[in-house]
Amino acid sequence: MKVDVLLGLQWGDEGKGKIVDVLAPQYDVVARFQGGPNAGHTIEFEGKKFVLHTIPSGIFNLETRNLIGNGVIIDPFILRKEIEKLNAADIPVYPNLFVSKKAHLILPSHRLIDAASEASKGSQKIGSTLKGIGPTYTDKMSRCGLRVGDLELADFESRYTALKEKHLKQVAQFGFDYTAHLIDGHLFSDYESRWLESVEVLRRLHKVDSEYFINEELKLGRRVLAEGAQGTLLDIDFGSYPFVTSSNTTIAGVCSGLGIAPSKIGQVIGIFKAYCTRVGSGPFPTELFDETGEKLRRNGNEFGSTTGRPRRCGWLDLPALNYAVMLNGVTELVMMKADVLDDFEQLKIAVAYQGADGQLTQKLPYEACTQDLVPAYKIMEGWNQSIRQIPANETLPESFNAYITFVEQSAGVPVTMISTGPDRNQILYR
Ligand code: GDP
Ligand code: IMO
Ligand code: MG
Repeated sequence: MKVDVLLGLQWGDEGKGKIVDVLAPQYDVVARFQGGPNAGHTIEFEGKKFVLHTIPSGIFNLETRNLIGNGVIIDPFILRKEIEKLNAADIPVYPNLFVSKKAHLILPSHRLIDAASEASKGSQKIGSTLKGIGPTYTDKMSRCGLRVGDLELADFESRYTALKEKHLKQVAQFGFDYTAHLIDGHLFSDYESRWLESVEVLRRLHKVDSEYFINEELKLGRRVLAEGAQGTLLDIDFGSYPFVTSSNTTIAGVCSGLGIAPSKIGQVIGIFKAYCTRVGSGPFPTELFDETGEKLRRNGNEFGSTTGRPRRCGWLDLPALNYAVMLNGVTELVMMKADVLDDFEQLKIAVAYQGADGQLTQKLPYEACTQDLVPAYKIMEGWNQSIRQIPANETLPESFNAYITFVEQSAGVPVTMISTGPDRNQILYR
């Protein structure tokens, strides 16, 4: 068997959580392979809404096992809160959740470094979620991080203290006074004691050698879906550096974040919104600063699932989408939030950019981070009706089909699913 992959093609928040939940009944295992609690994956069904940060979105399907892979980084306190919320809603977590021993731990002091580093950047700040992502991956690469498997070591506490002391020195070097700084509403010492208590919850989970776990599942013929976090344009290598996250959000992250050979990758499901959003700083060529942008934000309820920040909104960007399709070897596309465009007379899709030299290009240039790219748009007719009301077997409006066909032809990949609302059932299959 091969591993199918679902990942975001834009700047995150495409709706990955919803589609993983929709697909979960077709899979025996759902596995997260990178990122950490900077992710916020929303799942809605039966009038209930859940936002997952660390736990894979297959957790609502009781037949599916869920793996947090070695490439993921974990904050035990955030994970504990997630588990408690799911348990309170009678969703069983302990039997179906498996955690890689090689996944790295986000310490409370990583979050201080994140805050100190962002504060020091002033107007050049990344707009990080401040969950400690950059500093934790930095320690992983510097070979001084702590991992889930280390929780079993007799000297875990002294290792924890040594790393914390080192971090506090770094924080002091930034000139950052952390004594009054709040981490998710808690002072450092308070957060730290909650974090240390939560480590006990992590100790109780099934801890596995995840590379063996997943390859053995494949050998037994089980179906595995890898769930991406963030999006292609936030990838550490291919995103709009430095305004990116600190992991490979693209297909390569599946291999290194789960221990899967490239030859074991199956379908690559690329997911995109019918328009674009971005939260945090960095280039966004099709961003709208006018009433149309406001309308997208209002119609799409575009506020961050993790931080509540308003998301920046703009038109669909085909050169960027095609870049993401190329990098990931996408085999099928899923278009999300089509309903958000229901009441527009006219829609625009960026088909090229004009660089500083006046030349048109369909490639994302290296200079995207330093120069403003002016998009060239194709103007399309809006469908001007609610697609939520259209029964599954009825013909879709012509202008709606034209919008999708235009994207498919440009990307060279079929759109197989269209999402028309946040609920699990609001989906059209093609
Ligand atoms: P993720 O991080 O990729 O899982 O996406 P988020 O959960 O951060 O953001 C997607 C948001 O859009 C969530 O609030 C979803 O409930 C919502 N959503 C998902 N699909 C649709 C859709 O088709 N239409 C609308 N209107 N909302 C959707
Ligand atoms: P999901 O999985 C949208 C953005 C942040 C910031 C940059 C770096 O829900 O799609 P970090 O916390 O990683 O240091 O932030 O990346 N970012 C996201 N934007 N969705 C996400 O995850 C994101 N995770 C990080 O806003 O600009
Ligand atoms: Mg999200």
